[in-house]
Amino acid sequence: MEIRVYDTKEQCGKAAAAIIAAQLLRKPASVLGLATGSTPIPCYQELVRLYEEGVLDFSKAVSYNLDEYVGLPADHVCSYHHFMRVNLFDHVNIRLDATHVPSGTAGDIHEEGAAYDAAIAAAGGIDIQVLGIGRNGHIGFNEPADSFTKGCHLVQLTDSTIDANTRFFNSRDEVPKQAITMGIGSIMAAKTVLLMATGADKAWAINATVNGELTPAVPASVLQTHHDVILILDKAAASLL
Ligand code: PGA
Repeated sequence: MEIRVYDTKEQCGKAAAAIIAAQLLRKPASVLGLATGSTPIPCYQELVRLYEEGVLDFSKAVSYNLDEYVGLPADHVCSYHHFMRVNLFDHVNIRLDATHVPSGTAGDIHEEGAAYDAAIAAAGGIDIQVLGIGRNGHIGFNEPADSFTKGCHLVQLTDSTIDANTRFFNSRDEVPKQAITMGIGSIMAAKTVLLMATGADKAWAINATVNGELTPAVPASVLQTHHDVILILDKAAASLL
């Protein structure tokens, strides 16, 4: 694992955006694996700035997001569909029909997951996968478990995740209890993994990911076996390394 540590989350955002920018410049038709949450927002802001300055062109890019809450329609303000439009897609020239987020309102989430995995494979796999990390070490919504789940699947969110994400909703009761998430197999199949973490509340998970045992109890620890992972951290998230 390559590890880069910066003073601020803004620097982390610029560093992550520089890696994605290099990917897009080398391969304009890149397949981007994208993440939601507060951590990648400075990265997306920097990508928008590079687009506005005429440095980046997203017109040939394709994207697949990690996850979505079950039960939230795409136009719900707390949905990850909405998050991606507000934070990135509406501000760059990516074709909306080239962006993909799993559907949280599909009648059959199992079928939706299988179709999502098939679409990623048909697109040639993910060139670069952006990840945040949960305080419990989750990636996407792959929560701590007894085993790793390979494909896109339905998950029950843990109390830790529901607590952490309550800040995006009016109350804890409004946070969906289930999600659909890309599985560990698709994340591990990405050619490059770019994991971002900022803030002291991520320090335990980052240390467990880098130095801990490889275990589904800390889903991000599986990245120890990926051949091309870069961690972009601020000092607080790196403080236990
Ligand atoms: P955050 O979420 O960026 O909002 O902290 C990250 C995650 O849960 O994966």
